[in-house]
Amino acid sequence: MRKLIIAGNWKMYKTIGETIELANALKRQLYDLGSETVDIVICPPFTSLSEAAEVVIESNIALGAQDMYWQEEGAFTGEVSAPMLKDAGVKYVIIGHSERRQFFSETNDSVNKKVKAALNYGLIPIMCVGESLKDREAGLTFKVLEDHVTGGLKDLGPEQVEKIIIAYEPVWAIGTGKTATPAQAQEAHKFIRDLVIKLYNKQTGELLRIQYGGSVKPENTKELMGQPDVDGALVGGASLKADSFSSIVKSSSEVKK
Ligand code: 13P
Repeated sequence: MRKLIIAGNWKMYKTIGETIELANALKRQLYDLGSETVDIVICPPFTSLSEAAEVVIESNIALGAQDMYWQEEGAFTGEVSAPMLKDAGVKYVIIGHSERRQFFSETNDSVNKKVKAALNYGLIPIMCVGESLKDREAGLTFKVLEDHVTGGLKDLGPEQVEKIIIAYEPVWAIGTGKTATPAQAQEAHKFIRDLVIKLYNKQTGELLRIQYGGSVKPENTKELMGQPDVDGALVGGASLKADSFSSIVKSSSEVKK
């Protein structure tokens, strides 16, 4: 049985003060949710990480970052490394989000280097994959997913892949209000799991947690999370308000599979 994992990707929103306020509100609203039902993660921007860590320390909310560089340190102006994230109290790191692929030239190769570095330093990568609308309309969804998954996991062993989380985020559903139907999400998640089983083995595929991301809201959470191969959500817009993110987390904790 895979435990659901609900993560909020705050993207480029929230100052330090706003982060502290939102993290405190989430802590208040979610304090009584047993950690056996669902993993809860918030991913504020780099500038707010250490303050967010102070708020959520010893709570049922874990901290994630939105990106990292694969080198440990050096002359890489503007970048942040895995040990720096660990130092700030981070446990998870989003890698290869479609916005990074689209606006910051992220490739399967850089995603792969970052996933390896994250694992080497004990961070849990949330590796994002997903097709654009053009890909979907051209019938290329599975081909793109195969490229993203095989490219991102290149040279990793099964015991490493078992630690990773994959987020399936169809680009056409991100920030558009257009959610993938539960059947579309299930189809893509099953394809990813079967691919990992083919590339590795049954156990690795069955342990792998696959999140869905793209216009997740309180109203569509239960149906999406109820799908057999959907193991959580990566939430953008709806993670920026305490009420909606808490409601998504609570609805997920009530899902029976
Ligand atoms: P929205 O939930 O705003 O569609 O964003 C999804 C996303 O990109 C999460 O990483």
